[in-house]
Amino acid sequence: MVSTVACSPRSEVAESAFDVSVIVPTFREAENLPILVPRVAAALQAAGLTGEIVIVDDNSQDGTEAVCTRLAETYPLRLIVRTKERGLSGAVVTGLQHARGAVLLVMDADLSHPPEAIPQLVEPLRTNQADFTIGSRYVAGGATDDDWGLFRWLNSKVATLLARPLTSARDPMAGFFALRAESFEQAQALNPIGYKIGLELMVKCRCRRVHETPIHFRDRLHGTSKLSLKEQVNYLRHLGRLYAYRLTTAPRPLRFMLVGGSGMAIDVLAYSVLLLLAPLPAARALAIWLAMTWNFWLNRRFTFETVKDASTFRQYIAFCLSCLLGAGVNWTVSVGLCRAAPVFREHAVLAAMLGVAAGFVFNYLTCCWLVFRTPRGATSRSHEPSNPSRTDGANAV
Ligand code: GDD
Ligand code: MN
Repeated sequence: MVSTVACSPRSEVAESAFDVSVIVPTFREAENLPILVPRVAAALQAAGLTGEIVIVDDNSQDGTEAVCTRLAETYPLRLIVRTKERGLSGAVVTGLQHARGAVLLVMDADLSHPPEAIPQLVEPLRTNQADFTIGSRYVAGGATDDDWGLFRWLNSKVATLLARPLTSARDPMAGFFALRAESFEQAQALNPIGYKIGLELMVKCRCRRVHETPIHFRDRLHGTSKLSLKEQVNYLRHLGRLYAYRLTTAPRPLRFMLVGGSGMAIDVLAYSVLLLLAPLPAARALAIWLAMTWNFWLNRRFTFETVKDASTFRQYIAFCLSCLLGAGVNWTVSVGLCRAAPVFREHAVLAAMLGVAAGFVFNYLTCCWLVFRTPRGATSRSHEPSNPSRTDGANAV
């Protein structure tokens, strides 16, 4: 079937109609499809899996439609043509939204990814051994073609390293991956730019158990790569967004602690500079005030869902008071413990650590209950739009 996003999105379909949907984003791949499609179909059949192949083409105008119409006579193939948007990640999201399989698998059209490995990516998902599977170049047994130049290899390695804090996967950049449809349905605020949709899905669908199957990544069979310098810049922007997302979805006390840690760094830095410019008591006071203001701004932005109509000034004053009281709690516990018990007199640092912990808990609770409290009946501002992964086309680049 050939359509311009004509079939129903999966949110309107009650049950999965197939074991697997193989989603293939294409831009000028008419020459590769007649080789790819039969191999995908054969791999599915050999493994006893029912499936569909969903080609998402960005209006290539290279004969892709005619090729797909012909292939659809023999194979379970659907073509979705996007005419308004362009971009790999958006095309993949469109394919995922319209796919009807219980497992959703994504792969390139240019034969870089071996279709014969599809069952190995599907099996761990069907048996619930994994939440996300990758056809990986960088696990034992995986490889790339020899004529990968140093630049492309280094580029790929650095990009992978930068994503390390977001996922344990060895090859998070891969375009050959799979996940269960039910995981995709949990995707929050999909907002991909550039090429790295797999990484975005791993992070936002909360896929923790990642399983990698080694593959030999071949150079494309026909045509040219569409990866440009612009995509590298997009990747850095994308990473920035994913880090911010991780931060805003981390448990609130952890966010509060991270902000506090960054405030301590600001305090030390500002104090060192101010000591050169002002007398010690003034430098100390100014550095504390700067760190407090820094903490307030970050907490308001990242830690607490603030209230649209709450006065920033009132919150700021309340926050500074809470910090000063927290410092008082810290001091009282540290000094009080040393006075009360001989063991703390010998281990004053331990007492100070307990003081810091008590001050932290005090600050955190006053922030929750008093400083950033949502007044009754007020609307709170959320950091995330409601599940746009279901909104057709809205995520396209
Ligand atoms: N619909 C659509 N729109 N598809 C696109 C677009 C686009 O704008 N740009 C590229 N594609 C399709 C290609 O037709 C191909 O099927 C697949 O996306 C990958 O594009 P290539 O141009 O072959 O990319 P590559 O070989 O440089 O990149 C590969 O390696 C990366 C990791 O290094 C791909 O596997 C990427 O998916 C992978 O992230
Ligand atoms: Mn390629």
